[in-house]
Amino acid sequence: MPNALNGKKILLGVTGGVAAFKACELVRELQRWGASVQVVMTEAATHFIGTASFQALSGQPVFTDQWDGRIANNMAHIELSRQADAILIAPCSTDMMAKLAHGLCDDLLSTLCMARDKPLLIAPAMNRQMWMHPATQRNARQLRDDGVAILGPGNGDQACGETGDGRMLEAVQLTEAMEAFFTPKSLAGKSVLLTAGPTQEPIDPVRVISNLSSGKMGFAIAQACQRAGAQVTLVAGPCALPTPDGVQRIDVRTAQQMHDAVHALMQPRPDVFIAVAAVADWRVAQVSDQKIKKTGDDDVPTLQFVQNPDILASVARLPDAPFCVGFAAESEDLEKHGEEKRRRKGIPLLVANIGHATFGRDDNELLLIDAKGHTRMPLAAKTDLARALVLHLAGQLPA
Ligand code: C5P
Repeated sequence: MPNALNGKKILLGVTGGVAAFKACELVRELQRWGASVQVVMTEAATHFIGTASFQALSGQPVFTDQWDGRIANNMAHIELSRQADAILIAPCSTDMMAKLAHGLCDDLLSTLCMARDKPLLIAPAMNRQMWMHPATQRNARQLRDDGVAILGPGNGDQACGETGDGRMLEAVQLTEAMEAFFTPKSLAGKSVLLTAGPTQEPIDPVRVISNLSSGKMGFAIAQACQRAGAQVTLVAGPCALPTPDGVQRIDVRTAQQMHDAVHALMQPRPDVFIAVAAVADWRVAQVSDQKIKKTGDDDVPTLQFVQNPDILASVARLPDAPFCVGFAAESEDLEKHGEEKRRRKGIPLLVANIGHATFGRDDNELLLIDAKGHTRMPLAAKTDLARALVLHLAGQLPA
């Protein structure tokens, strides 16, 4: 599965802070995604964690000193910064932010940052007062203006016992941010509207008919589209998943509400509409205002249903319709039924779930069906499939 971090060389700068221990996990996480890591530490960082730990984890010698004799030409700052695809400083101390903002170079890490011809990303980690200090905020603004990406900081309990902004982001969050940074912006300038999750169709004020969709696939695709540079709106049925960063989310409950929310977003038309939601085909014809009472042992209510609007087909029928992508869970003869469904809905691309036990799981197996034929995506994490799907989709859009 494609992953923008795979094969990348990351120079990981570690500065003095308690969060330096989290940088050990970060090395492992970056490696797990296929990146190689060269660690450079400041002198202060070595008071928190030894070079031996990073050397063992990264499998590469650790550099701390501008005058390190291991670099033949004695230009460690040039050599190290040229070898990397990007420099990530995590944790980045208040002091290092100040040095970077003012162009000071009094140690190896600050000097190689000045000498860099590669992107610089920093993950600040400090006490909340230090983060909120006007000088630090001024430095952060300056660094952003200089093109430095600032990842976090997060909010929460701090090692000093206080609570607030200034925590370094977790290793997994930083790795995801690095992957997002390297992701080709294949959907730059495009707007994408998605539906995801289940719908709930009420029977009475306390009972609903729904399905087991978790929303994981749709949310993963929304995130992948956002990371590929698209402007993303997600119309979500009831599900407890966090909203991906940078995605606009609209919560709805019923199929009719989902339909109305989607059509309200058709002016101006999005470039792409991806219908991932497991929309209820039917709703109860007469929703009871009161909870339906159980009056006797043999008393079983009868429910009448009416059909819900087909959101995807209704969008595909619009004049100047967006590029429409549908999902399908077919239990037999996937290719034949998938192709039939693609034509019936009038859409260019249908994504069929191979096997129908995907609801709630973190992985999936897909068959992409378009006018040219089929593309199989073998079993993988939904987040990986989402990235691959976005690349496939981007290749199909008009230039
Ligand atoms: O017809 P079927 O429900 O199998 O089609 C599934 C595809 O159609 C999915 O992309 C789903 O999001 C979409 N759909 C819809 N509105 C409905 C039913 C399905 O948008 N009422």
